[in-house]
Amino acid sequence: MNVRATALAEVHRFDEQASAFARDVIDDLSRHPKRLSPKYFYDAAGSELFEQITLLPEYYPTRTELAILRDYGRAISAIIPKGAALVEFGAGSTTKMRLLLGECGLGAYVPVDISGEFLKTQAEALRADFPSLQVYPVTADFSAPFELPEPVRAMPKVGFFPGSTLGNFEPHEACAFLHSAREILGRGARMVIGVDLEKDERVLYDAYNDSAGVTARFNLNVLHRINRELGGDFDVGAFIHRAIYNRDKHRIEMHLISKKALTARVLGRKFSFRPGESIHTENSYKYSLERFTALARGSGWKPFESWTDAAGMFSVHAMVASD
Ligand code: AVI
Repeated sequence: MNVRATALAEVHRFDEQASAFARDVIDDLSRHPKRLSPKYFYDAAGSELFEQITLLPEYYPTRTELAILRDYGRAISAIIPKGAALVEFGAGSTTKMRLLLGECGLGAYVPVDISGEFLKTQAEALRADFPSLQVYPVTADFSAPFELPEPVRAMPKVGFFPGSTLGNFEPHEACAFLHSAREILGRGARMVIGVDLEKDERVLYDAYNDSAGVTARFNLNVLHRINRELGGDFDVGAFIHRAIYNRDKHRIEMHLISKKALTARVLGRKFSFRPGESIHTENSYKYSLERFTALARGSGWKPFESWTDAAGMFSVHAMVASD
C-alpha cells in the first residue's frame, strides 16, 4: 500500500472502531441490567491506569505471572521450536515476551493489538534492542479471526496469551477465542497462556478494591471516555466503583453504581438510572487447574504442562493444537 492508501485505511479503521464503540455503548446501556464491555476500558488514560494497577501491592496477578515466567523461563521456552513465530494476542507490553526471548531462538514476533499506534512504538523499541528479531505487528481485534503476515506463515507457530486476559471473556467467548486461535495458528501450533486461579476471597476482593483507589479510577474512566468520545454527559462523580467476588460463578464482578436517580445522554439517547442501579463493566473469571484444562480440551487444545507459583495464585500453561 502507498502512503495515502495506508492513511485512508487507518482513517477507515478509526471510523469503524469509533462506530463499534458507539453501537455497543447504546446497545449495552439499553439492556436490563445495564452493562458495558471491558474492552472499552483501554483508551490512553485507561491503559495508563491499568499499568498502575499492575504495580499495586494488592494486585498480585502481574507480579506473580512475571515471577513464574522468570523462574521457569527455560522450561517454558523449551516448548518453543527454534525459528518459531511467537504470536502474542493483545500485546500490552513486551516485558513478558522479553523474558522468553533470551532463552529461545525465535524466528519472528507477531504482536496483535487493536491499537496500531501502541504496537508501532513497542515494535520500534524491540527492533532497537534485538536488531536480528523480525517483528511483524498486526493491528486487529484478536478476539476475531485475522490473517498472519505472509513471511511467518511457513514458520512453526506459538501463541502467547499472558495476563489472564482470558478471564475477562465469558466462558463461551473464551472457548470461541481458543478455537479461533487454533484456526489462526494452524496444525501443530503451540500456545503459552497465563490463567489466574481461584483463591482466598479476601485476596481476590482486595486485588480489585485497592486502597489507593486506582481500580476505581480505571472503572470510572469508561464514563469519562463516553463523555469525551461520544459526546456523553455522564455525571461521573455520581457513580461509585464496586467489585465483588461471585463465588457461584467463580468471578470478580466490577460495577459502576449510581448514587442517585439521574439521567445521562449519549449520542442523543437518554438513559435513566435509579439510585443504586448498576452498570456491569467487567467479569474476571478465576479458574481451577482442572476447570481451565477442561475448557482448553473442549476448545481445540491439549494442555501438556503447567507451572504455578509456590502459593498457587497464578498458572502458566503450555498446550498443543489438537488435530
Ligand atoms: C486485564 N485483566 C486481566 C485485568 C483483570 O484482572 O481482570 C483487568 C482488571 N480489572 C481490574 N483490575 C484489573
